[in-house]
Amino acid sequence: MNKEKIAIIGLGYVGLPLARLFATKYAVVGFDINTKRITELNSGIDSTLEVEDAVLKSVLKPANSEDTGLYCSTILDDIKDCNYYIVTVPTPVDKNNKPVLVPLIKASEAVGSVLRKGDIVIYESTVYPGATEEECIPVLEKNSGLKFNQDFYAGYSPERINPGDKEHTVDKILKVTSGSTPEIGKKVDDLYNTVITAGTYLAPTIKVAEAAKVIENSQRDINIAFVNELAKIFNLMGINTHDVLEAAGTKWNFLPFKPGLVGGHCIGVDPYYLAQKAQEYGYHPEIILAGRKMNDGMGAYVASEVVKLMIQNDVKVKGANILMLGITFKENCPDVRNTKVVDVISSLEEFGANVTIFDPWAEEQQVFKEFGYTSSRKINYKKYEAIVLAVAHNEFKELDYSKLTSDSSVVYDVKNVLSRTIKNKSL
Ligand SMILES: NC(=O)c1ccc[n+]([C@@H]2O[C@H](COP(=O)([O-])OP(=O)(O)OC[C@H]3O[C@@H](n4cnc5c(N)ncnc54)[C@H](O)[C@@H]3O)[C@@H](O)[C@H]2O)c1
Repeated sequence: MNKEKIAIIGLGYVGLPLARLFATKYAVVGFDINTKRITELNSGIDSTLEVEDAVLKSVLKPANSEDTGLYCSTILDDIKDCNYYIVTVPTPVDKNNKPVLVPLIKASEAVGSVLRKGDIVIYESTVYPGATEEECIPVLEKNSGLKFNQDFYAGYSPERINPGDKEHTVDKILKVTSGSTPEIGKKVDDLYNTVITAGTYLAPTIKVAEAAKVIENSQRDINIAFVNELAKIFNLMGINTHDVLEAAGTKWNFLPFKPGLVGGHCIGVDPYYLAQKAQEYGYHPEIILAGRKMNDGMGAYVASEVVKLMIQNDVKVKGANILMLGITFKENCPDVRNTKVVDVISSLEEFGANVTIFDPWAEEQQVFKEFGYTSSRKINYKKYEAIVLAVAHNEFKELDYSKLTSDSSVVYDVKNVLSRTIKNKSL
């Protein structure tokens, strides 16, 4: 049996799959401040759908102990005899797109209060380069009274999971690791290597590992912004963007990015972390922020395209009933955080349309709580003046569109998943 005991702080999309994986080989305590989440997890249910109930139940243990398995708790005392603390709390931005480090600081205060000599604290939350050592370590030192790299140590290992993706699960994605000294880097790397079957990559420093993560998502954001710009250009020219991308994609080094709405808590957020830090160093990042601006404006663009098509079909926009297919930020996943579908909805509402939201994945209460919109998990089969397929949930490919449309109805396919006989246009 492994003598290491691991605490995972924050049991969301990232923390729970990691806790479950470590719990196959170690004694793990999952700690979260959300009581509802802990109750749900201890009964073997994961509402994020990242860990199947049977898989979760197979590692759950009834009480905090040294036995292999997972025990979930909201009580700080339950993590006090761990020797590895892995922090997986959210790192969002505020309404002005400034990084919010509050959960990270609060989690560091909590860990600091139970930290003991020899312990290692590993951060997994996505941050800008320098956040671990400049923001989190001082909090750990202050709350523990211990000295960094003398009494306790740190690591940073960014997460690369993709919610809803059942193929690239945490164990099957190569993991970047790092440590606050070369010896600790090796220790952190060895720890992850015991459970990550895809292997690990030990980065030379914590800052390198932090920077690597934030540029992975920034690179995706910029590439998507480029194809969004192409979509706008080709729409003006009357050329089908997807046909162009397919043709260009026959070249061996053409990158297969698609136009779309960029939501969620990673690609649409992380570039702001990098941009903020660059600005602190007196550098104004032009390309990173141009990508963000382009992608953040796509919701309004989609709405304007739908309205143009309705006008072309002599459909009155004011008072029109529009069906929005999907509100989650991505397909086949219940995550609605930072979804940009709400930008399409609010823009259509500004034109005076009535928008009905159908999403078989989104939790209706959560949609209402976060955005004030009513969404339904059941489709209301009636005729709509326009349909916008905003998210590529599998269920939308099976709908009977003839029952939802009349001759003049507009079907706009943001994700380009419907056949050309059903839709009027794609993004
Ligand atoms: N979701 C993804 O696909 C993904 C992928 C890679 C990296 N990340 C990064 O991982 C981090 C976590 O993201 P997530 O999607 O798992 O977030 P999440 O919102 O799903 O989960 C975070 C959990 O942390 C808990 N929490 C908040 N403050 C806490 C505190 N002080 N102490 C203990 N628990 C606390 C919340 O209650 C929640 O259950 C973020 O930095 C994110 O950018 C996310």
